[in-house]
Amino acid sequence: RTAAMTAELQQHIREIPDFPKPGIIYRDIAPLLASPDALRAATEVMAAPFKDEKIDIVAAAEARGFIFAAPMAILLGAGFVPIRKPGKLPFETHSHAYDLEYGTDELHVHVDGVQAGQRVVLVDDLLATGGTMQACCRLIERCAAEIVGCSFLIHLADLGGEAKLEPYRVESAIVY
Ligand code: PRP
Repeated sequence: RTAAMTAELQQHIREIPDFPKPGIIYRDIAPLLASPDALRAATEVMAAPFKDEKIDIVAAAEARGFIFAAPMAILLGAGFVPIRKPGKLPFETHSHAYDLEYGTDELHVHVDGVQAGQRVVLVDDLLATGGTMQACCRLIERCAAEIVGCSFLIHLADLGGEAKLEPYRVESAIVY
């Protein structure tokens, strides 16, 4: 990613103070998604680090991860595999439960969604605490596939999420 491209993408992120609670600045990607040029550029920047990596599958957790993962899969000549919240996938699944600030959450992937040995890039719009992506990594590991790296639109670096994703490669288009 170039500094100019990052700055251009950043112009399409809207900052909403005190959402969803006081003291939090919400980074709203809706303006970026609504801009044809920014949507294309974001997808290209997120895919670029993996273009020579012979990627078989781009996988992502719903809902916002899906938005970038499917066009990235097309750019990388890969397939797309959905990682979903409980009760959504119809076939047999692997599941992984993880802790949230209050309570726990759980993600699932079809047991045959990713084949053993396939080369996988995991995608999301945001790396915050890293809990969501860490769960995605555990699910892909259960499929005995190879995680080539994780690609994010936005990385909130102060929250320490990157450490949770070790030893995997982490790429992001915009870092705050
Ligand atoms: C958001 C975002 C990431 C996750 C990042 O998803 O899209 O998936 O949080 O946070 P973390 O690094 O602390 O796990 P959210 O749970 O709001 O679900 P959504 O995509 O369905 O809106």
